[in-house]
Amino acid sequence: IPEEKRRRLQFYSATPKLNSEGSAALLLAAATADSRGYFGERRTEAGSRWSKLSVLQAAQPAWAATSITPVPTGHAWDVNWDKRDPSTLSNGKKKGSTTEDPRSEQDNGKPKATRNILLIRHSQYNLSGSSDKEHILTPLGREQAELTGHRLSSLGLKYDVLIHSSMTRATETAHIISKHLPGVELLSCDLLQEGAPIEPVPPVTHWKPDAVQYHEDGARIEAAFRRYIHRADPKQKEDSYEIIVCHANVIRYFVCRALQFPPEGWLRMGLHNGSITWLTIRPSGRVALRTLGDAGFMPPDKLTRT
Ligand SMILES: *[C@@H]1O[C@H](CO)[C@@H](O)[C@H](O)[C@H]1NC(C)=O
Ligand SMILES: *[C@@H]1O[C@H](CO)[C@@H](O)[C@H](O)[C@H]1NC(C)=O
Repeated sequence: IPEEKRRRLQFYSATPKLNSEGSAALLLAAATADSRGYFGERRTEAGSRWSKLSVLQAAQPAWAATSITPVPTGHAWDVNWDKRDPSTLSNGKKKGSTTEDPRSEQDNGKPKATRNILLIRHSQYNLSGSSDKEHILTPLGREQAELTGHRLSSLGLKYDVLIHSSMTRATETAHIISKHLPGVELLSCDLLQEGAPIEPVPPVTHWKPDAVQYHEDGARIEAAFRRYIHRADPKQKEDSYEIIVCHANVIRYFVCRALQFPPEGWLRMGLHNGSITWLTIRPSGRVALRTLGDAGFMPPDKLTRT
């Protein structure tokens, strides 16, 4: 075996052995490869430091001492999370009351369509002012809404409806988006207003709503979740695309609930203004998060991060 190839084999053969012995072998292989100039002869100081670091860090004995296999939490997927599982519905009164409808026999009460829910965070607004009415979009916020509207339009999906929270900033954002989606019905909903869905874990110091706020908002935002996030009705024939313009807390809570992740983890996620979060709900009730807070369509100078 030529020297060069032998070195390469030596390096790679050690790489996958990520157990306690393997980490020592990997460390050795990395050091050997490096001393022989394996990572290239003429590197800058920084380049050398980083390439060494990434390999050596991955081979830390302390890291390898603990199991590298994540421990399953044991939480099962609740197939009837939205209470629309056909097997549970057909045993109920609902079926009996529709037996005179000949279509229900064919339909067999099973959902056939996929629902796509595109959750949009409102764009930037003026934080000065105490009432919701004063919280109007900034000029940048209006630009962001135009960009989001343009993006949604250029995705070329057949949108069914554009629902928005009744708060000023969401209403304004939705109206700007609406200009890009002619013919799509626009609806306002109070349930989608911003609020405190559930006490976040871990807690944060800069944001401490009163217990009563969680008590009231939590129930309302959960009600919004139940109204909007569920599998398709059996009567729905075609896949649907619904846009909901609302708020960061509401969207993050929806995502946790839809994926059956602990809802108190909602504050571990961050969403850009005007970003798109896309949930897909299959007829079986399976849920997929297609994108979370996508704002890649916005030029960097239009992103708000403070
Ligand atoms: C926000 O509103 C205040 C007055 O209500 C105004 O002075 C300020 O310039 C506004 N800021 C932005 C970014 O629009
Ligand atoms: C979005 O804009 C609001 C003000 O309108 C601001 O408080 C918030 O931090 C912004 N979000 C991001 C992710 O930049």
